[in-house]
Amino acid sequence: MPDADETAITSGISHALDQLVTLCTQPGDVVLVESPTYHLAVRILRDRPLKLIAIPGGPGGPDPAALSELIASLKRQGERPSLLYSVPTFNNPTGLCWSDDVRRAVVALAEHERILIVEDDAYRELSYDGEAPPSLWHIAPSGVVARLGSFSKSLAPGMRVGWITAGRDLIARIRTCGVMDSGGGPNQLAAMTVAAYCEDGAFEPQVARFREAYRARRDALMSALAAHLPAGWQARMPAGGFFVWVRLPAGMSSEALLPVAEAAGMSFVPGRRFFCDSRNGDDALRLAFTLYSPAQLETAAVRLAQAMRRCVSDAEERSG
Ligand SMILES: Cc1ncc(COP(=O)(O)O)c(C=O)c1O
Repeated sequence: MPDADETAITSGISHALDQLVTLCTQPGDVVLVESPTYHLAVRILRDRPLKLIAIPGGPGGPDPAALSELIASLKRQGERPSLLYSVPTFNNPTGLCWSDDVRRAVVALAEHERILIVEDDAYRELSYDGEAPPSLWHIAPSGVVARLGSFSKSLAPGMRVGWITAGRDLIARIRTCGVMDSGGGPNQLAAMTVAAYCEDGAFEPQVARFREAYRARRDALMSALAAHLPAGWQARMPAGGFFVWVRLPAGMSSEALLPVAEAAGMSFVPGRRFFCDSRNGDDALRLAFTLYSPAQLETAAVRLAQAMRRCVSDAEERSG
């Protein structure tokens, strides 16, 4: 558990990330970004004149050896990254959880290189197959990680209440920076409402209900994909969070598939939106399952399968 002086209340993760970028970067700084990643975090980072550089990925998360080499090559060019943005637990969009080895290696590297890891932990509370792995903040020495948490996924996005857990110096700077000093903090009414809800003991049972419902929806979607999609696709069973990341059969483009799928009555976010370099990711798409009933998810899988078959037959017709 963090101490009170290691935590600051924010208006959600989006606000916290913007705040960290304000306080911890200079124009022109290099920021390392896990890839693929939460596309709207990239929007927040792109509001500043920063150089975003994608971290090379491996099967258990970023590849620590490739990351180390990337940092070394940046240093040879006179660049020192100031931040590393990541979603290591139930990633948006992939659902991936970094392995324990990767967590420890990335933390050790960041500590050695004095890079602040921004750990976006939006989905930690929504784990479906046992406990979520320990956060990077939990395993790192003080000052290496700023962990961003939120009630958006575990309670209600409209509350706009979240928090940062970080080293005491950084938390003191966040609490006393101009925008917090001027307003006395983010939205006090919303924060006190969430605090009263938690003190009443209502939060834990609500999260347990979400977990149960979302686990059933995840399972329904995965079974429906297995039953209906044409051969050649791949997806990992996400152990938590909101999303299934589907790798399409060879040669299929998610951008080309989208209008066909929407005409059939379902939608998804094409993979390219989650990469800093939009030349990547066209072979994948993100499905969100938490808002829909198992029956709706089955219908969506049937429609996606129809759209995929249509794309294949259109391509065959074009090639004669
Ligand atoms: C990884 C991730 N971070 C942050 C957010 C937004 O969080 P908040 O509503 O707390 O700003 C989302 C919402 O989709 C998300 O997926």
